Amino acid sequence: MTPQIFKQLMRLHPAAVNIIATGLAPNRSGLTATAFMSLGAEPPSIVCAVNRNSYSYQQFIANQSFSVNTLSMDHIEQAQIFSGQKDISGDDRFTNPVWSQGSTGVPVLQGAVISLECRLLRQFEESTHCLMVGEVLDGHFEANASPLLYRDGKWLSLSEAVEA
Ligand SMILES: Cc1cc2nc3c(=O)[nH]c(=O)nc-3n(C[C@H](O)[C@H](O)[C@H](O)COP(=O)(O)O)c2cc1C
Repeated sequence: MTPQIFKQLMRLHPAAVNIIATGLAPNRSGLTATAFMSLGAEPPSIVCAVNRNSYSYQQFIANQSFSVNTLSMDHIEQAQIFSGQKDISGDDRFTNPVWSQGSTGVPVLQGAVISLECRLLRQFEESTHCLMVGEVLDGHFEANASPLLYRDGKWLSLSEAVEA
């Protein structure tokens, strides 16, 4: 299969949008990421895939800790900022006061659907990307937040629950 056809297929895969973030002000960094999933509960762990050419990747590895913040519909501008669409980089992406410092020191986004504070357990490098396995040390949630989704180049909201 060609990379082009693969990308066309993956564009149709719906995903929740997250910001993975690390560091202390004024040296924070982070990126928008859809490649995130739960790994297991014992210990509580997650995995995300990060491009090794990104600036944030170097910081995740250097700090050995990061947060995963699942975005709500109120966070579309943050999603754009942290994916480089507003030409803002590094700590400047955090100027909005919605960011605070979590109990483990990582940046936590206020109003996120969930925020997970992680320590880097292991990393697996594979071609352009790295799978980062994080142990979840602390977590937060916003019960009324509506998740932001991404599919085929568009930001989407969840529709109503359907009867099975
Ligand atoms: C919807 C969306 C999902 C993305 N998912 C990922 C992802 O899972 N992993 C990744 O490394 N980059 C992903 N990106 C790209 C990064 O957000 C983008 O390259 C970012 O600008 C990297 O920032 P940095 O180089 O300053 O760290 C995604 C971008 C968008 C718009």
